Amino acid sequence: MPTMGYLHEGHLSLLRRARREADLVVVSTFVNPLQFGCGEDFKRYPRDLPTDARLASREGCDVLFVPSPRDMYPFGYRTRVTVEGLDSVLCGRFRPGHFSGVVTVVLKLVNIVRPDALLLGQKDAQQAIIVKRMLEDLNAGVKVLVCRTVREKDGLAMSSRNIYLSPDERRRAAGISRSLFLARDLVRKGERRASVIRTRMKKVLAGAGITDIDYVEILDGSELVPLRRLEGEVLIAVAARVGRTRLIDNVKLRV
Ligand code: PAJ
Repeated sequence: MPTMGYLHEGHLSLLRRARREADLVVVSTFVNPLQFGCGEDFKRYPRDLPTDARLASREGCDVLFVPSPRDMYPFGYRTRVTVEGLDSVLCGRFRPGHFSGVVTVVLKLVNIVRPDALLLGQKDAQQAIIVKRMLEDLNAGVKVLVCRTVREKDGLAMSSRNIYLSPDERRRAAGISRSLFLARDLVRKGERRASVIRTRMKKVLAGAGITDIDYVEILDGSELVPLRRLEGEVLIAVAARVGRTRLIDNVKLRV
């Protein structure tokens, strides 16, 4: 179970699932410099190893793997893995190189740990799709389990980055999940037009004072191709900045 640490209830739910599925659970915490762009939050990304170690051991983690950047990328390191196409939509458009950094570190972790299965969260839907594709394409022989998104009481998806939010921003941030829940309700009531759903979602976001939006997208849930009419496995995804903090969230629906 790869993480960047600063473990929260979302991470711990994955860990509990791992505990149920496996005889031996390995958790890694590594803030991976390769997946942060220039001007992103690598330096200030929250870190708290003593608390992570306590939480991981309390939830039954057998091995906590905490490599240093030098362990992972020693002098002379040159290799990067890329999953083409899937990394140029959604977050890939706004974070060039990000998913290449993610799949590279995940493949390295898989090669070091040699797990039977890898646990990922639905919270990072595009990441889960891309990592799955990479492991399959490169014959890694690793099963991927994608676990549901764990949320705060008001719906905000848990994230290590929520710590950056001021109290006012924290309140407004719930607008993101509200917009996604509205989309889900509209689909349940029979709406199939992506443009109508996206317009309604943007209204909810604007109502919460969220105007700095990277995307509000409705796509095919496996190929990440935008849909005009909702059909089959559908991913509805939002990325927006609340204050200076970039948040992402999504819902996956079978239509
Ligand atoms: P990180 O953000 O620490 O997340 C680690 C894992 O926990 C990811 O699979 C993520 O999807 C999952 N997760 C995070 N918040 C969640 C929530 N609220 N509910 C359910 N699962 C949640 O994602 C990364 O780290 C990195 O990119 C990584 C895969 C470790 C590669 O560096």
